[in-house]
Amino acid sequence: MSKFAVLGHGVVGSGTVELFLKNRELINSRQGTDLELGYILDIREFPGLSYSDKFTKDINDILNDDEVTVVAEVMGGVNPAFDFVLSCLNRGKSVCTSNKELVAKKGAELIAAAKAHNCSFLFEASTGGAIPIIHPMYTSLAGNEITAVCGILNGTTNYILTQMIENGTPFDKALSEAQAKGYAEKDPTADIEGHDANRKICILSSLAFGRHVYPDWVHCEGISNITAEDAAYAKSNGYAVKLIGSVKKLPDGKILPMVAPRFVPLSCQLAFVSDVFNGIMVYGNGFDEVMMYGKGAGKLPTASAVLGDIIECAKADGTILSCTWEDSADNSFIADHKDDTVRMYVRCSGSSTQDIEAAFGSVDFIKADGINGETAFITAAMPEKDIDAALEGLCSRVINTIRLLG
Ligand code: HSE
Repeated sequence: MSKFAVLGHGVVGSGTVELFLKNRELINSRQGTDLELGYILDIREFPGLSYSDKFTKDINDILNDDEVTVVAEVMGGVNPAFDFVLSCLNRGKSVCTSNKELVAKKGAELIAAAKAHNCSFLFEASTGGAIPIIHPMYTSLAGNEITAVCGILNGTTNYILTQMIENGTPFDKALSEAQAKGYAEKDPTADIEGHDANRKICILSSLAFGRHVYPDWVHCEGISNITAEDAAYAKSNGYAVKLIGSVKKLPDGKILPMVAPRFVPLSCQLAFVSDVFNGIMVYGNGFDEVMMYGKGAGKLPTASAVLGDIIECAKADGTILSCTWEDSADNSFIADHKDDTVRMYVRCSGSSTQDIEAAFGSVDFIKADGINGETAFITAAMPEKDIDAALEGLCSRVINTIRLLG
């Protein structure tokens, strides 16, 4: 029998238990496993559940039980999750986690600990919810050099933007709905300000390029300054507004990871990824491009990925499954986004266009239904630092800027 433990009985933890109990016979017969739920660690009380006897408040019950070979960490946050995960790995127990903050901040160390103790550290659920994205990057796509990854990596903000733009729902109401549906982080600032997407692009960057990318090294913007007017300009001119996490390898060998809202052209499939769904494009030198799509947040979609990792570990029977990346001493391999060439949407007060053309040269002026008495335009492609310099001359007029994707 393979016993597994679940650390944390929150949204994802309770979903993992629920999905396992619902599908236990199917899983064990199809997968040839003999998986059983051993423990659930949580300091809270959960009376009246059919599996109430599984709860413990003491991590040592799990650490000291040799029958527990796999542990799912679904608590979130770095502390105490890091200590618990490291203790499990040091005892040779494989760990599966949905905790993107833990992987983004401590992934290199935990991968090394798993290797040192002949067990696995898996984190499919940390990025893209139910979408299989982590495994394909180091298995099915492993014969390629990955050149870029670009996607919608946060379900909460995508849900909010969809509700605001498609249904005219106010921001606060859309956020409350996302919280009620179990999509948002405990502190939803992490979603809104892009920190959650940042952690996920760090994980994908580390995986794609083999060196740990820490969140502090990544330029990160959220969606808090996106307005209905910006969405109207986008819609009237063939774009969707999306929070995009991206990383690309540059000709000089550096990589450029970043998180920011983008005008996404309707020619790109990411423009049609709505609601809580995530979509992730991966580019490589053999397969060219693949796109993965699915529910990026929520109880059972995330539990699905956790449970998949648990089953894989149970089947592996001592084989180390973890992917590999090395820790990074410094961020000298990360490029400055201000040197990147982009096109920028700019919204200005006033209707004069002469100073705009004087500063930027040729631009595309755009209109939006129902908006008058102001000016919006899209620049030609140029280094972002040159756009900043041109914007300085207009500064009192500038209302907002958003980069284009592509
Ligand atoms: N808050 C996260 C999101 C949960 O909305 O995407 C899934 O990682």
